[in-house]
Amino acid sequence: MAGRTKTIAFANNKGGSGKTTTCANTGYSLSTLGKRVLLVDGDMQLNLSLSFFSEERVLEFAAGEKNLYNAIRGEKDLTDYVVHTSYENLDLIPSSTLMSGIEYELFTKWQREMILSRGLEKIKESGGYDYILIDSPPTLGGWVMNILCASDYVILPVEASPWGLFGVANLFEFLENVKRIAPSLELLGVVITKLDARKNYGKQTMEVLKDFEQVTVFDTVIRVDSEIEWAQDNSRPVMVHKRSARSAGEFLELAKEVDKNVRRSR
Ligand SMILES: Nc1ncnc2c1ncn2[C@@H]1O[C@H](COP(=O)(O)OP(=O)(O)OP(=O)(O)O)[C@@H](O)[C@H]1O
Ligand SMILES: [Mg+2]
Repeated sequence: MAGRTKTIAFANNKGGSGKTTTCANTGYSLSTLGKRVLLVDGDMQLNLSLSFFSEERVLEFAAGEKNLYNAIRGEKDLTDYVVHTSYENLDLIPSSTLMSGIEYELFTKWQREMILSRGLEKIKESGGYDYILIDSPPTLGGWVMNILCASDYVILPVEASPWGLFGVANLFEFLENVKRIAPSLELLGVVITKLDARKNYGKQTMEVLKDFEQVTVFDTVIRVDSEIEWAQDNSRPVMVHKRSARSAGEFLELAKEVDKNVRRSR
């Protein structure tokens, strides 16, 4: 394998900004490009797990031993928590609804910002993956701090809507704080999601983002596509659900851009 495993967090404290959808579909697209990908569901909503497994399986993972909550609580090596999806080159560490209590669990632990990072160490050392993609909940606490401290890069999905950028300044401030603990963390870019081409908010969103210095905005924009919801309803990536869907092509382009930007920053 050329180069070591790169870890990318998808984060934004704004709910519904497209974190999970972008993480799942970029991950799948990277796997179709021949990259070996591990997805980590860091959210109690279990949405990333539901993107690839039926509700029944996801609830089984959540109620059983093999989920991220138990791993973090027990400060375990995450190797044993990996499950294979039905797609080649694509694995997942499932979440649990108990993740809602993770902040409390973290509170008493030694070097509590680094528990996820330590848990992923062996997986990274093994070189079995080109990319680890981590989906975050819409919060900015100790757990998201863990996710960011375990990552080389962060991608911010921002919804092209009037409130999409609200709070983004807080997020940048949070990232600066994280960088004091994890100085190598790099903002790979902002991806504009859920753009409705009939509206003008998209342009406005772009313009506001330009005012933030040193922020890369991905050229690929993810437009609103109702096929995404049908795909999620069937626990499938949109490309598997409907190869000709507009968003399927957009996510593939985004994956190429992500890979290109990572290579460039090495
Ligand atoms: N491009 C799109 N077109 C249409 N619907 C979309 C698109 N992207 C996401 N959605 C829908 O918008 C909703 C929010 O998306 P998603 O769950 O990916 O956001 P999120 O940031 O992960 O949310 P949360 O903060 O709750 O974790 C979902 O119902 C999803 O199906
Ligand atoms: Mg989500």
